Amino acid sequence: MSAIRSIILGCGGYLPERVMTNAELSQMVDTSDEWITQRTGIRQRHIAADGELTSDMGTRAARAALEAAHLTPADIDLIVMATATPDNTFPASAVTVQKALGMHHGAAFDVQAVCSGFLYALTTTDALIRSGQARRALVIGAETFSRILDWTDRSTCVLFGDGAGAVVLGGEPQPGWRTDRGVLSAHLRSDGRFKEKLFVDGGPSSTQTVGHLRMEGRDVFKHAVTMISDVIYDAFEATGFSAADIDWFVPHQANIRIIDATAKKLGLPIEKVIRTVDRHGNTSAASIPLALWEASLDGRIKRGDLLLLESMGGGFTWGAVLLRW
Ligand code: ACO
Repeated sequence: MSAIRSIILGCGGYLPERVMTNAELSQMVDTSDEWITQRTGIRQRHIAADGELTSDMGTRAARAALEAAHLTPADIDLIVMATATPDNTFPASAVTVQKALGMHHGAAFDVQAVCSGFLYALTTTDALIRSGQARRALVIGAETFSRILDWTDRSTCVLFGDGAGAVVLGGEPQPGWRTDRGVLSAHLRSDGRFKEKLFVDGGPSSTQTVGHLRMEGRDVFKHAVTMISDVIYDAFEATGFSAADIDWFVPHQANIRIIDATAKKLGLPIEKVIRTVDRHGNTSAASIPLALWEASLDGRIKRGDLLLLESMGGGFTWGAVLLRW
């Protein structure tokens, strides 16, 4: 038996130059470094420069991923970009990235699942690769959440940051075993009943404005660990893997307390958890590929390692992916 698996061939990232510390935020709203650090683990976040767009950051991350994979845009036939903060209502920011890469072939589209966007994009791309509709793809997560924050609302503006991450995903034959490289199992969930818990209060069809992020943080927190753990258990059940098999846990970086509580519930030691939230804040769809980029670049994630990715975001949407690097 053999199977086509979607293998990560390269990984890249980009963070805007400007760093905003908690101290700087405490001069803008009634907050403190101590409150933000204790409740969220965030110490700083990156903020896009004036005129720096989601597609600009996505393009930089994509170029870095291609370079890491020793490939060029000519080798790619699909771009899938996860973002909740596109440059324009349409076209998809993925086609702007396609243009910036000088690519005139293949297909490009956006996926919108807020903080779960990268796992939705990865899962969609994996399905297209395994069905033979794409051979090699760029999967990008890129966000400029700084543009949809209400900078007078201390309960939300301290949580988010800007950035982009990308992977090159390529279809390659594998034996069809648990030891295969590539995406091994993907599990996506959503439940629109929770729409009001985390949303943006604007849009082309409703208000004809962009709107601002609104969140009932305590309620999001309350559901997060249970929903994330449930979908991870689904991934374990589907594959026969357990927490003991995981080399690296790469969670969406929303809040250190959610990350640590999930790891504890699953019985994953803290040394196996990739954390960037302290330096990046919550970069929504960009957080997982940025974490992959950082941990593969510094040599922690190595070829053959089993990775568990998870995320939860607006909708609610949530999901888990098991893959071997
Ligand atoms: N600085 C100081 N005080 C603050 C701040 C702030 N930045 N923000 C809120 N407070 C105050 C509140 O007004 C409240 O004051 P009160 O008791 O006088 O009313 C007090 O702090 C406690 O507020 P809570 O909301 O109960 O604080 P909590 O401990 O729940 O922490 C937080 C808030 C950090 C938002 C937490 O609920 C959380 O992390 N929730 C999950 C949010 C999240 O991660 N969202 C993203 C995940 S989904 C996605 O990634 C899109």
